[in-house]
Amino acid sequence: MKILVTGGAGFIGSNLVDKLIELGHQVVIIDDLSSGLKSYINPQAHFYQIDIAAPKVEEIFAVQKFDAVFHLAAQIDVRKSVADPVFDNKVNVLGGLNILENCRQHNVSKIIFVSTGGALYGEAETIPTPETYPTNPLSPYGIHKLTFEKYLHYYHSVYGQAYTVLRLANVYGPRQYKGGECGVVSIFIGNAVAGQESTINGDGENTRDYVYVSDVVAALAKALEVDYIGAINIGTGVEKKVNDVVLAVELALGKSIAKKYGPAKIGEQTRSVLDIALARKVLNWQPQVALDQGIALTLEWSKNQVK
Ligand SMILES: NC(=O)c1ccc[n+]([C@@H]2O[C@H](COP(=O)([O-])OP(=O)(O)OC[C@H]3O[C@@H](n4cnc5c(N)ncnc54)[C@H](O)[C@@H]3O)[C@@H](O)[C@H]2O)c1
Repeated sequence: MKILVTGGAGFIGSNLVDKLIELGHQVVIIDDLSSGLKSYINPQAHFYQIDIAAPKVEEIFAVQKFDAVFHLAAQIDVRKSVADPVFDNKVNVLGGLNILENCRQHNVSKIIFVSTGGALYGEAETIPTPETYPTNPLSPYGIHKLTFEKYLHYYHSVYGQAYTVLRLANVYGPRQYKGGECGVVSIFIGNAVAGQESTINGDGENTRDYVYVSDVVAALAKALEVDYIGAINIGTGVEKKVNDVVLAVELALGKSIAKKYGPAKIGEQTRSVLDIALARKVLNWQPQVALDQGIALTLEWSKNQVK
């Protein structure tokens, strides 16, 4: 298949591009390199350095004639979305809409959108949280991800545009951008490798669902093969504390890391873990990499970066 990956120079996108090429697909990347890196781009992919919101994107769709599109390009920093909601909207809603509108006009068979499971459900009472739980995002980032999901629903209802949404938990692994949405694993590992101190916000008892990037890429590849219309959670279903992450990093390093506890961030969710029963059923997928293992793999990669 001829596949477009927006955000294909980023953390998850570049890992996905490698997998799609390995599977024999022809891959085209659109990325403005605002947080992605040229060095992550697979040399077998065709790369356009351009903003997803640019009118010129239309020419790329007209020339390339994609069979499918993975839409990952995004402003991913929740705190930045709070500080500048207008910018977040421009990238995550208007930019996405430009991609979606081009999918419709150029008869793309399917669009797969990477949404968030961590920022849509708010402080949920059902733990682990299923896709059917009411969506009450507590940030412009979450609101805009949900808005784009609604646009997908609308384009499917009105134009028959096929789509699947994957709502990801906290993804970690090689190539993660240190300043990102939920990069606590990469921040702690990066600091440890650089001999710098890490700050834990609050008491470290907040929980998250940490899923390794190769498991996410496997789920994305499976989403290409199914006809499912709607949203599917992708995580591990396992709740881990920030303190558990610190311990796992220390175990992988074989020594304790320099750390201090700082004030809790206002408005930060205390618990987040996704119910992944639907992913098991629809995608015939389940995570393969446990946190200890994933952290050891990420640490190896991180050490090689500084060599
Ligand atoms: N990392 C996580 O834990 C996580 C969790 C849930 C959802 N997501 C979603 O997964 C997707 C990929 O995130 P990531 O963690 O790989 O982050 P990332 O920042 O590494 O990747 C985003 C990519 O999009 C590109 N980009 C940003 N704005 C653009 C624009 N206007 N035009 C073109 N390209 C642009 C960036 O240069 C980057 O390469 C995002 O949609 C994000 O919201 C990530």
